[in-house]
Amino acid sequence: MASTDTAPHSGRRKPLSTRNKRADKIQKKQIHPSAQTEGAIIGSGTRVWQFCIILPHARIGCDCNICAHVLIESDVAIGDRVTIKSGVQLWDGTRIEDDVFIGPNATFTNDRAPRSRKTRRHLLVTRVQRYATIGANATILPGLGIGKAAMVSAGAVVTRDVPDYALVIGNPARRKGWVCLCGETLRDAALSCQCGKRYERRARGLIPVS
Ligand SMILES: CC(C)(COP(=O)(O)OP(=O)(O)OC[C@H]1O[C@@H](n2cnc3c(N)ncnc32)[C@H](O)[C@@H]1OP(=O)(O)O)[C@@H](O)C(=O)NCCC(=O)NCCS
Ligand SMILES: [Zn+2]
Repeated sequence: MASTDTAPHSGRRKPLSTRNKRADKIQKKQIHPSAQTEGAIIGSGTRVWQFCIILPHARIGCDCNICAHVLIESDVAIGDRVTIKSGVQLWDGTRIEDDVFIGPNATFTNDRAPRSRKTRRHLLVTRVQRYATIGANATILPGLGIGKAAMVSAGAVVTRDVPDYALVIGNPARRKGWVCLCGETLRDAALSCQCGKRYERRARGLIPVS
């Protein structure tokens, strides 16, 4: 996780008021005036677009792109260089690692058996590991892990953990193959990609070997 914006350290420290103004300026430049982000921890270089709501204490890393109409609750942690397309809600208990892509209108959940006006019980944690992609309009049921660099297809309904580098498709989502870090489906049995990367099978999915 990246830290929040702070004034850069230099030998000659500027007065506090000047440093705060500078940090403000950096952050304001990145956050659209219609977005509501008070109390959230947002890293430098992150852009937050129109009509986003990011609740206090939510943690967002550096150089992320949070597109219009995204809602992020307080108990959410997002790494660096994450892209979140429009219409996504990230509920309490969602953990998104570095370099993840979340497609438009992907749906996360954190309660296995919701009822209106029921006091919320223990909320389940959903973890999306580094480099993973969640396709447009996919639904992720609560408490699941999406493996490193996994690809969840558009419209999939994910009901089980997804292994590292797995391609899952459909409702319920089933593994239909493997994907390379570059995003291409691995079509040959040798688990090699045109981009030059090669992989081997392990218990948790694939691991890169070149
Ligand atoms: C799954 C995906 C990665 C393609 O993988 P692929 O290995 O290249 O798949 P192919 O296009 O060769 O299709 C293989 C089969 O899966 C089916 N398929 C592909 N995508 C599918 C999807 N999202 N849901 C259901 N079936 C799908 C195809 O119809 C095809 O079926 P067939 O063999 O019976 O004809 C891609 O379709 C996808 O969903 N990408 C995400 C796009 C997205 O959400 N982008 C968001 C940013 S705009
Ligand atoms: Zn590749």
